[in-house]
Amino acid sequence: MIKHIDLIFATGNQNKLLEINKIIPNNVKIISLKDLKFSDDIPENENTIEGNAIYKAKYIYNKFNTNVFSDDTGLEVEALNGEPGVYSARYAGEACDSNDNINKLLKKLNKKKNRNARFKTIIALIIKNKIHTFEGIINGEILKNPIGENGFGYDSIFRPAGYSKSFAELSINEKNIISHRSLAIKKLINFIS
Ligand code: IMP
Repeated sequence: MIKHIDLIFATGNQNKLLEINKIIPNNVKIISLKDLKFSDDIPENENTIEGNAIYKAKYIYNKFNTNVFSDDTGLEVEALNGEPGVYSARYAGEACDSNDNINKLLKKLNKKKNRNARFKTIIALIIKNKIHTFEGIINGEILKNPIGENGFGYDSIFRPAGYSKSFAELSINEKNIISHRSLAIKKLINFIS
């Protein structure tokens, strides 16, 4: 096990920060962009999830020259050929929020029998000037209507395979047992340990 390491988490998303802070071991100190008083929007213009994750990590690494990791996540729906995928954040348009994205997705899936979907996270880590990526995937299905108050983004319409509840009905700790993000971050922890 390594002694102690500081890692910037290159995200402005407080929900992602909450989830990851609950998994990370004590010897890893997460520095948030808020801690660094950095609130610029980091561009997400790449056309793959991996590309965006790497771009975000490099962007912050170039600014702060400190070990850093980023997370880029997409929801891939089978009947929509993997949409919204890399466009998950702005599926309904640049100025739209999660409710708009959910509504657009539910409309597009209306009358589709196949509601299989998966969340995919790529975490990009820059440590000792080298880039490493870690993937986490969870399969499940898209519900007909949003259910649950917890979580964020598409959580209320995603039911993980083998579960009777949506992600938004699970606590952070319950989501962390199985989620795409936790799978990817556990690989990162393993790598640096
Ligand atoms: P990004 O990784 O921040 O670019 O997120 C892309 C989109 O997926 C945004 O609309 C997020 O709200 C959503 N998203 C990211 N992670 C999750 C998750 O764990 N659950 C539900 N939605 C998520």
